[in-house]
Amino acid sequence: MPEFQSVRGFHDIYGEELKKFRYLSNLIREKLRLYNFEEIVLPVVEYVEVFQRSIGEATDIVQKEMFTFQDRKDRWLALRPEGTAGAVRAYVQNRLYALKPYVKLFYEGPMFRYERPQAGRYRQFHQLGAEVFGSLEPVVDAELIGLVYEILSELGVKVVIEINSIGCKVCRPAYRDALSAYLAGVEEHLCEVCLDRKDRNPLRVLDCKVPTCKSAVKDAPKMVNFLCEECREHYSKLKEYLNAMSIPYRENPNLVRGLDYYTKTVFEAVSEELDITVIAGGRYDYLVEEMGGPPTPAIGFAVGLERLSMLVKSLPPEDPLYLVIPFGDVLPYALQVAKALRAEGKRVEVSYKKGGLKKQLELANKIRADYAVIVGEEEMAGGFYTLKDLNSGIQTRVEFSPAF
Ligand code: HAM
Repeated sequence: MPEFQSVRGFHDIYGEELKKFRYLSNLIREKLRLYNFEEIVLPVVEYVEVFQRSIGEATDIVQKEMFTFQDRKDRWLALRPEGTAGAVRAYVQNRLYALKPYVKLFYEGPMFRYERPQAGRYRQFHQLGAEVFGSLEPVVDAELIGLVYEILSELGVKVVIEINSIGCKVCRPAYRDALSAYLAGVEEHLCEVCLDRKDRNPLRVLDCKVPTCKSAVKDAPKMVNFLCEECREHYSKLKEYLNAMSIPYRENPNLVRGLDYYTKTVFEAVSEELDITVIAGGRYDYLVEEMGGPPTPAIGFAVGLERLSMLVKSLPPEDPLYLVIPFGDVLPYALQVAKALRAEGKRVEVSYKKGGLKKQLELANKIRADYAVIVGEEEMAGGFYTLKDLNSGIQTRVEFSPAF
C-alpha cells in the first residue's frame, strides 16, 4: 500500500465516475438554464453560526457531522455541510432581494459531513442545488418537483418522488405536542438516539431507520391531519398542479427531513432498489428572516451527485477517437493533420509511442480509438493520410494539404 492515502471518506473522482459526474452536471445545468436559474459560486467555508442558526442546533449535522476548525484569530469556521445556509447568507448579505421580486439561484460543489462512510455516503460529496427566493406560491413547489422529475426521467433512472407537508409556525407546535405525547407512550420500543430525539426534535423519530422505531411510529399522528388552513390549501394546490403536469409522486406522511429550517412542502427522490435518497429539498419560509433578511419565503432542492451517479447505468456514446500515427520523419506533417482534424471538432490523439504498426495498433486498442490516422513518408509526399476504421478494418485515402 502506498505511504499516502486519501483521508477517510474523501475520494478521488476520475475515469467513468467522473464522466458520469460531468454528464449529470451538464444535464442538470441545462435543465436549470431552461428554467432561468442563475449560478452562484459560494464559499466552501463559512462561520460556524451560519450553519448552527439555519440547519438547527438539535440536528445530527450540527451536533456531530460538521468539520469545524479555528482560524488564526480563534474564530470558529466550518466546511459547509450543505449549500442552502450559505445561499441564504449570500442572498441576505448581497441584498439580492433588492434586485428582483424573486431570485432563482443554483450552485454546485463539494460539501462535507463527518458521517460514517459507506456505499454512497462520503465525508466529502458533491451537490448541485437550486433555490428560489421570494415566492410563497405552490406553483414554485410544483415547478421544482417537476424539474426534479424531468431530470430523473431524462436519465431513465428508477426513482420515486415522495412528498409531504410539515406545516408552519401556526400548525406545527400542536402536532409536535401530539407526537411527543404519542412517543412517550411507545418509549420502550425506541432506539437510544430516538429516546433523546423524542423531546428535542420529535419529528426526526419519524424517519429513523431502526426497525423497532419504524414499527413504533406506524400509528403516530400525522402532520397532514394537523395542517392549518393555509398549509392545507398550499399542499392541496401543489398536488393539483403535479397531477395537472402528470408528475408521479407518492405521499409519505412520515417524510420529515433532517434539517430544521423546513416548512410546508418537503420532498425526496428515493431509489427503492438501493434504499437511498438521491435528491432532496423543501420549503424554508422563515430562514431568510431568521438570518437577518426581510421576510422571504423560499424553497429549493439539492442533487447528491455521487448518489445519482450510482443509478446512472450507461452514458451516451462518446465522439469517435482518432489516433494519428506518424511513421518515419513526418512529425511536422502529422501534427498538421492532427491540428486540421481537431479544427473540424474531432477528438484526436497523436501517438507518443515509438514502434511499428503492431505496437501502434495495440496502443489504439488500449486507448479505445475508433480510427487510426496513418501518416508515413508516402502519405506526406503524396499530400494525403490513410484513415483506417478500426472497427471494420476498412482503409481510405484522404487528400490533405496543410492550410497553414
Ligand atoms: P440533504 O438531504 O441533507 O439536503 O442532502 C441532499 C442530498 O445530498 C441527499 O439526498 C444526498 O443525495 C446527498 N448527500 C447528503 N449527504 C451525503 C453524503 N454524506 N454522501 C453522499 N451524498 C450525500 C440538503 O443538503 C438541503 N440543503 C437540500 C435543500 C436545498 N433544501 C432546500 N434547498
